[in-house]
Amino acid sequence: MLRTHTCGELRLPDATKTVTLAGWVQTVRDKGGVLWIDLRDRYGITQIILEDGISSPDLFATARTLGREFVLQTVGEVVERKSKNPNILTGEIEVRPTQLTVLNPAKLPPFLIEDETDGGDDLRLRYRYLDLRRNPVRRNLELRHRMAQQTRVYMDGQDFIEVETPVLIKSTPEGARDFVVPSRMNPGEFYALPQSPQTFKQLLMVSGFDRYYQIVKCFRDEDLRADRQPEFTQIDCEMTFVEQEDILNMFEGLIRHLFKAVKGIDMAEVPRMTYADAMRLYGSDKPDTRFGMEFRELKGLFDTIDMTSGKGFPVFDSAPMVVGINVPGCADYTRKQLDELTEWLKRPQIGAKGLIYARVNQNGDVKSSVDKFYSEDDLNAWAAHFGAKPGDLMLILSGEVDKVRKQLGELRLEMGSRLGLRDPNVFKTLWVLDFPLLEYGEEEARWFAMHHPFTSPKPEDIALLDTNPGQVRANAYDLVINGTEVGGGSIRIFNRDLQARMFSLLGFSDEEAKAQFGFLMDAFEFGAPPHGGIAFGFDRLCSLFGGSDSIRDFIAFPKNNSGRDVMIDSPSPISRKQLAELSIDTTVETK
Ligand code: AMO
Repeated sequence: MLRTHTCGELRLPDATKTVTLAGWVQTVRDKGGVLWIDLRDRYGITQIILEDGISSPDLFATARTLGREFVLQTVGEVVERKSKNPNILTGEIEVRPTQLTVLNPAKLPPFLIEDETDGGDDLRLRYRYLDLRRNPVRRNLELRHRMAQQTRVYMDGQDFIEVETPVLIKSTPEGARDFVVPSRMNPGEFYALPQSPQTFKQLLMVSGFDRYYQIVKCFRDEDLRADRQPEFTQIDCEMTFVEQEDILNMFEGLIRHLFKAVKGIDMAEVPRMTYADAMRLYGSDKPDTRFGMEFRELKGLFDTIDMTSGKGFPVFDSAPMVVGINVPGCADYTRKQLDELTEWLKRPQIGAKGLIYARVNQNGDVKSSVDKFYSEDDLNAWAAHFGAKPGDLMLILSGEVDKVRKQLGELRLEMGSRLGLRDPNVFKTLWVLDFPLLEYGEEEARWFAMHHPFTSPKPEDIALLDTNPGQVRANAYDLVINGTEVGGGSIRIFNRDLQARMFSLLGFSDEEAKAQFGFLMDAFEFGAPPHGGIAFGFDRLCSLFGGSDSIRDFIAFPKNNSGRDVMIDSPSPISRKQLAELSIDTTVETK
């Protein structure tokens, strides 16, 4: 070994030992008679000290050639520091070298390799290997490692076995586009990269593997966001002879184990909510339950009393839904602030038509932007309905049910953020249950599977498949943490006929279904057991545990927002010869 100790290891009791350290030069501070080198590696920083009269002139000469990020080896004696640094674990000692060897010089890095860096996103991604030297980024990957380790500990303890499934497969519909790989040996034909190992894990259940998991790369060609990457990792799981309840318990166990083992948090039981309630109360199928501000409908599908109509306010009279939130302590919002909020809501990303507000003054009077239409009694009734107290502000939107719920959902999150109610160190988990099986695509004029086509309908709803498909609920569930969808799964169809019926509902002809999924339907005829499972977005789970919104920070070599790896410059063109070999460019002779 080129070292006896790491740069994070030495303490006061090591004083007088002769050690060899190796690492990167963080800084050199030269005061003439005294010179300090901070030597850094993955484990920490150790100070090297050179002093006139003690250290040889040769050592001073070598030290003065050092630049940032030089790779340095030193042999020396551990000594107690005169002025100690309580902020680092090695702060009580320093090393007085007898040898300094430059193992490799370094060019000046393009940005500061420090916790707070001056490098922008693009630059840091281009030199990701330097970015990874920085503590915050390194710590994220260490967290990811612990999460993977602890996942394996839990899964192994529950008798799950890890099986690798292939990466060159054929399309599995998970709602995104496939990445495809041309096959040289089969001209004109393509593999697809898995959007998930869904069909393979189901086949493993048919094989009798009973409890499978895999920490696995998935690929989806979709628009990128902070919580989406084109290649990402799932903790993919499947179990045989189970019902929804068994899956929820088993994987609630995994999440609680991870919180305990990685963060030392005793997580309470995961609460449950139906999809219908989540939409009604939060306007989202992944509500952030770190704070309340639940929706109150003033006129709508669920309230028995209509508190808005017949008063002559055309906007509310004509809207199918009028719904709002009560924002505590915001009655003092100025006209300007409310106008800004209205503009924020009207942006195309949200698309609200306008905002109605009503504030409860300190004396209890309710004043609204629609005082003209509603009496004092009306407004007091609103306040009572919202549970609004003096000092609170009610924000109300109206419009079509789905749209207005989505808009109010965004407004709720914005107000939660403004009020500091979305602390990344507070964790609120939630199972969302009873998703609809299908959703209607207006543009394509057909039904789509909300989760995927292998999800089973609730047995009591199967009869509705023919009459009212939109009302059929699925045996599907999502795990939501702090408003992020961390995982999703379902109990599967394991009966050939039902699976065929499902494909036909989704617009597949018999031939198409057979061509794409014949292998699975065939397998269902050879003793397929009842089964179900779930997959967690591993990168999302890591970023949540690390208190960050961006999964990129938890991936060693991520893609940028345009799906590019700017470090290796990929994707990139390939030669015409390669294209020809793959039968993509037929204008070139290959032989
Ligand atoms: P689903 O499509 O819900 O289910 O994916 C499971 C989880 O994977 C994460 N995820 C992503 N993370 C990062 N970048 C992406 N582009 C991305 N897409 C999804 C989410 C999501 O909850 N085969 C089914 C699972 C099953 O039914 O068992 C599936 O893949 O956190």
